[in-house]
Amino acid sequence: MIIKSVRSAIRSISSEFIATFVFQDEKLFNQSSRVLTEAFDPSVNSAFASKDFSAKEGETLFVYTNSKKSSRLFIIGLGESKKLTIEKIRRVAATAAKKAKALKVGSAVFDISEIESISSFSSEELAVAISEASLLSLYKYDKYISKEKNGKKLTSITLCTTSKNIKSIQSGIHTGQVIAEATIHARNVTNAPGSEIYPETLAKETIRIGKKAGFSVTVFNRKKISQLGMGGVIGVSKGSEKEPRFITLEYGKQFKKHGTIALVGKGVTFDTGGISIKPSAGMAEMKMDMGGAAAVIGTFDAVSRLKLKRHIVGLIPSVENMPSGSAVKPGDIIRHYNGKTSEVDNTDAEGRLILADALSYAETFKPDVVIDLATLTGACVVALGHYASGMMGNDQQVMDALSTAGDKTYDRVWQLPLYDEYEKLIKSDVADVKNVGGRWAGAITAGWFLKKFIGDYKWVHLDIAGTVILEESQDYIPRGGSGAGVRLLVEFLKNWK
Ligand code: BES
Ligand code: MN
Ligand code: ZN
Repeated sequence: MIIKSVRSAIRSISSEFIATFVFQDEKLFNQSSRVLTEAFDPSVNSAFASKDFSAKEGETLFVYTNSKKSSRLFIIGLGESKKLTIEKIRRVAATAAKKAKALKVGSAVFDISEIESISSFSSEELAVAISEASLLSLYKYDKYISKEKNGKKLTSITLCTTSKNIKSIQSGIHTGQVIAEATIHARNVTNAPGSEIYPETLAKETIRIGKKAGFSVTVFNRKKISQLGMGGVIGVSKGSEKEPRFITLEYGKQFKKHGTIALVGKGVTFDTGGISIKPSAGMAEMKMDMGGAAAVIGTFDAVSRLKLKRHIVGLIPSVENMPSGSAVKPGDIIRHYNGKTSEVDNTDAEGRLILADALSYAETFKPDVVIDLATLTGACVVALGHYASGMMGNDQQVMDALSTAGDKTYDRVWQLPLYDEYEKLIKSDVADVKNVGGRWAGAITAGWFLKKFIGDYKWVHLDIAGTVILEESQDYIPRGGSGAGVRLLVEFLKNWK
């Protein structure tokens, strides 16, 4: 897909498909009606005059015009100009892109003049939002679907504007495209079946993306992981024929003087639950249990390609959680990287066991901030559904910055409390801590378990179990892997002091 921009009035454009965005405010609505009627033909005027379409937010009108230049005109309502947000712009861009795809046109023009002149957003911001949302909305995981040969593919979108800001628009398009592609990398690994993505191939994929984007990747095999004393990673991997891997990503060492941020991603390539096996209904979804790892890889891709001035380290403990004669059993006790022990009461609470090693190992890099992302608990999905990731941590400033980044990108987070009272729920009689905390507050007891293994750094845990894969599509997120966390972290890393 190519996204480009052109400076032109809409009436001079020839295209198979033009999308235009109209405000609901009476004055602006009438003005759009005049401009479009003049550019196309009177049929547009009667469509506006009918009052069937009033440009309410998300409302659409499709017109076949008599214009020789452009026959397909797609008009999308923006609602009231005062209430415009960047998320609404993403949504209308997605609506336009999906319509062009459905009509099987090869190229599309989006007329953004009106949004640019009326909204308070910079041309660059607009171009980021529009290109990002267009690409994200067109995504489909179709690697394993036999290709249909007929039908044109949408291969180009042109942002058309009368403003002078073409340079900023071009730069915004580049940023939007990089962030969308990084999110799509994350979606692809999340959607890939367990037969394709297991610890060894997850590491290979990370190396492949790293080579292209410009970050370094180091991979530890089973032997090395065992020598390091990462008992959680070894323990959880024991039931599987697939060897574990511990993947380290690094970018921007030269910016170390401005601090180091470590990103830790849960990389369970398939979670059967192990000996505490999950019910079969819905188990296929557990191919996404490396969504945290996917978010880390995607973030590194974007940060490297955008050349952000930041030192970041990524840590991905990766295992397949399987039941077998050699699997870890309930009652077993594991010794983690930092020497602390945990009692395995339930082998399905495996994510925290491998993250415990990664969080304590993170200390080796002397990070200022560590953010972990994990599809950690069903309880978090019960609490927040699919519209926000759960957030816990020991530093309010980092959490506030993540909240702000979440609200801006709409890759949103919601803070849950880590009150001291919850700690006793994971007390063990036989080890330093137990890996489950009983029926209540499952997302929080999981967070508390992780807290037991952090080092001397600011730490935030993001439970992305509900946001990383969707049963139902949202505006620019098709059903399936969403790439949650990538846009959030890129925005956070851009702004964190
Ligand atoms: N990967 C799951 C969490 C999960 C569940 C993600 C549903 C997305 C949807 C995790 O490893 C898990 O199995 N957690 C258990 C913990 C429990 C045994 C304390 C859970 O949430 O049921
Ligand atoms: Mn599990
Ligand atoms: Zn899991």
